[in-house]
Amino acid sequence: MCGIVGIVGRHPVSQRLLEALERLEYRGYDSAGIATISEGTLERCRAQGKLVNLEMRLERQPLNGMIGIGHTRWATHGAPTERNAHPHIVDGIAVVHNGIIENFAELKAELEATGADFETSTDSEVVAHLLAKFCREGMSGQEAMHAMLKRLRGAFSLAILLQNEPSTIMVARYGPPLVVGHGDGEMFLGSDAIALAPLTNEVTYLVDGDWAVISKTDIRIFDSEGNVVTRSRCTSMASADRVTKGDYEHFMEKEIYEQPEVIAHALAHYLDIADHRAASLSTRMDFANASSLVISACGTAYLAGLIGKYWFERYARLSVEIDVASEFRYRDIPLSAHAAALFISQSGETADTLASMRYCKAHGLKVGAVVNTSESTIAREADAIFPILAGPEIGVASTKAFTCQLAVLATLAISAGKARGTITEEEERQLVKSLVEMPRVMRQVLRNIRPKMQLLSQELSGFPHVLYLGRGTSFPLAMEGALKLKEISYIHAEGYAAGELKHGPIALVDKNMPVIIIAPHDRFFDKTVSNMQEVAARGGRVILLTDESGAASCNLDTMHTIVLPDVEEIIAPIIFSLPLQLLAYYVAVTKGTDVDQPRNLAKSVTVE
Ligand code: F6R
Repeated sequence: MCGIVGIVGRHPVSQRLLEALERLEYRGYDSAGIATISEGTLERCRAQGKLVNLEMRLERQPLNGMIGIGHTRWATHGAPTERNAHPHIVDGIAVVHNGIIENFAELKAELEATGADFETSTDSEVVAHLLAKFCREGMSGQEAMHAMLKRLRGAFSLAILLQNEPSTIMVARYGPPLVVGHGDGEMFLGSDAIALAPLTNEVTYLVDGDWAVISKTDIRIFDSEGNVVTRSRCTSMASADRVTKGDYEHFMEKEIYEQPEVIAHALAHYLDIADHRAASLSTRMDFANASSLVISACGTAYLAGLIGKYWFERYARLSVEIDVASEFRYRDIPLSAHAAALFISQSGETADTLASMRYCKAHGLKVGAVVNTSESTIAREADAIFPILAGPEIGVASTKAFTCQLAVLATLAISAGKARGTITEEEERQLVKSLVEMPRVMRQVLRNIRPKMQLLSQELSGFPHVLYLGRGTSFPLAMEGALKLKEISYIHAEGYAAGELKHGPIALVDKNMPVIIIAPHDRFFDKTVSNMQEVAARGGRVILLTDESGAASCNLDTMHTIVLPDVEEIIAPIIFSLPLQLLAYYVAVTKGTDVDQPRNLAKSVTVE
């Protein structure tokens, strides 16, 4: 997380740095800052909180200069205060940093022992002190950079301005991405190509372990040994257009309501809509001969993968090994090189997901990336890309990316089933037909349930805890519903497999515990209804999310029953995620929280 920008320009940079930072604010909004060199002097402006605070500060205290770096922070080490905001400056050296310096405590102690005076409680400040020490010892900026990088451990990217070398920016990429943009007599730098899109589309992606010196017209790139290396230049497809909220109050609301359109668009990429057939993907991923499937991801993307597991096992008879990427990468899993592997990530930059993908690649597996950002690191390093085509997702809480991930995973499972001969042509047509009809059903659901979800959200917003239950694919969906509620409304919520209720969580059930039960009228319905009885018998407040058949065959008293249309089993998780998203959204609106930028979160998690 954290966003980095830089410009070595022909024109003043501070306003352009600010605009580039706005495009990176999804990476963190704890604080922000800019440093420039003007008439040989390093100047800095920083502010706690969102970028708008920095903007107001800059109006009162403008920064001049044609070279500068900027940063938007997601705090890891040190509270989100102005003092801890980047750039950090020591002896005319300004540093912005994304990632974690793992050995910062050891380095700090060493530097303090030689008289360094630390101003902040960040890990980042050691970078500025180390560089300053090497420069004091007589090294040039470039020599100091090389020596300093050899001392750092962790995953980080850096941009550095030296007052004594006022025509260059030094950068390093050891983990989190960095992209250099080529302008007309100017060079740019950003954590992603989107930040640079209004400035240039001609970019060079730095590779892990690269560091570079950027001047107005040139970039010299070195590998970790200090050898000069060349990296190819390419044209980025990132759009310069700003995504707006349109008539919606929040991005999250807009992203919920645009799901029917974006899913239809994504499905058209993977399905033969007219003939109701799934695309053949054998050139991209050899599901037919795969011994098993590995899936890994984080957060909501992981929960999409968990639903995907049910589909791949059922339709393609492929057994699936799935884990959250932060565990997967360290489990020392025995992997067969004949297994296929899928990594799911909206941003395509999540550090743990990327590490898990690299782990599988190193073990000889062919890896596929189910991503929204086709120019991301995960997309670029994967053997095959399966874009989810959701368009930019700005709200921190994932909604349309989740359902598009599900739509793509469903089509992949059908394609895999077809390739492996585990579904018949008729079954394939039926499954595809359900997917093709899905956007229409989604539109209908979104139109009909809004008032009901608004009413329910007002009641739920007064409770401190909420339990979500489901079976089959409704179990990961229960976890996703709970995740959505907790991250934007700050209400404690847990999702459980309905059958696990009596193994512990039932102890929590009393009249103060709302229990949301996700129960489409599928093969698990009767069992889930039994679990619902257990909740009702203990005075729990049952909120039943079911379909028309389910509502007709259940006569239990509930606090609320939300009735969705009857749909085929394969699309039920996508249809049932809509009320869960709306519920979380309206509870957050009722509580007045910051829906699009909830506290402590960031949209792209590039640290582990
Ligand atoms: C929750 C949410 C997160 C992300 C997770 C992975 O609403 O958005 O849990 O799903 O941080 O991010 P990506 O998909 O970018 O790898």
